[in-house]
Amino acid sequence: MNYRHAFHAGNFADVIKHVVLVRILLHVQEKNAAFRVIDTHAGAGVYDLTGEQAQRGGEWLTGIARIMQARFSEDAQPLIKPYLDIVRSFNPQAGSLKAYPGSPLIARALLRPDDRLTACEVESSARRDLIDALRRDPQARVVDLDGWTALPAFVPPKERRGLVLIDPPYEQKDEFERLAAGFAEAFAKWPTGSYLLWYPAKSRRATDELARQVAQAIGDARPPGKCLRLEFSVAPQTAGQGLTSAGLLVVNPPWTLAAELKTILPELEKPLGQGGAGRFRLVPSI
Ligand SMILES: C[S@@+](CC[C@H](N)C(=O)[O-])C[C@H]1O[C@@H](n2cnc3c(N)ncnc32)[C@H](O)[C@@H]1O
Repeated sequence: MNYRHAFHAGNFADVIKHVVLVRILLHVQEKNAAFRVIDTHAGAGVYDLTGEQAQRGGEWLTGIARIMQARFSEDAQPLIKPYLDIVRSFNPQAGSLKAYPGSPLIARALLRPDDRLTACEVESSARRDLIDALRRDPQARVVDLDGWTALPAFVPPKERRGLVLIDPPYEQKDEFERLAAGFAEAFAKWPTGSYLLWYPAKSRRATDELARQVAQAIGDARPPGKCLRLEFSVAPQTAGQGLTSAGLLVVNPPWTLAAELKTILPELEKPLGQGGAGRFRLVPSI
């Protein structure tokens, strides 16, 4: 496996994914009962933006760096602030941006004392870094398990409430199919959980097929689940260019999420756009 998230940490796709992650977890927190976050492809935890890999990729410069400088309207500001506050907590020096938290650390920041995080990571150096970042944390468990195997095995969690984040590297050709099949199996076991599925939006055919399969899996459940589909493009896709469009499927989203995203996303289009404003599409998928 060659994938190293450090090259991409804090890019536009991370910003969108993590803004959505924070909005979901803030909503889950509104009920007293404990919840679990299961991060099937967790990454290293914290990324050094001054490090060689992040510098070489430089993707954070057109992602989180722009968002930290952006101004938001009175409506959007309170919705995006919790995410920005978490990023700032990893950058205590005022105005500096040297570190970016990955999904397990962002989720960790939103756990209350009885909530738990389970994070799978198979790449040894990323896993070591993640274990270091969560050292002696009784609420977080890092496991050396294939996320695809862990996914059906870890649901439903004993808390019975929570979120599964599925964010594979898409290095394998069959990863869209694995995602659809893994999700369907997990959802059948835990239809009341929330799921956040990330994908690169390079091929319309592949992304539509994924959305169709996910919609079918949740539509077959009784009662059927719900799904929101969000895609965000920072530039038209041209051959040889890096990733310019990414998507999320949010299964069983909080009822407030669509309205919140309709307030936040228009204000991310300009700062995240590359050579013009970006664009988003947010549609119910079932
Ligand atoms: C896209 S990155 C994760 C980013 C992270 N979720 C975030 O938002 O900050 C994907 C991670 O999955 C890891 N990985 C790849 N295959 C895996 C597998 N089968 N099971 C668990 N982790 C895997 C990679 O090493 C990489 O760190």
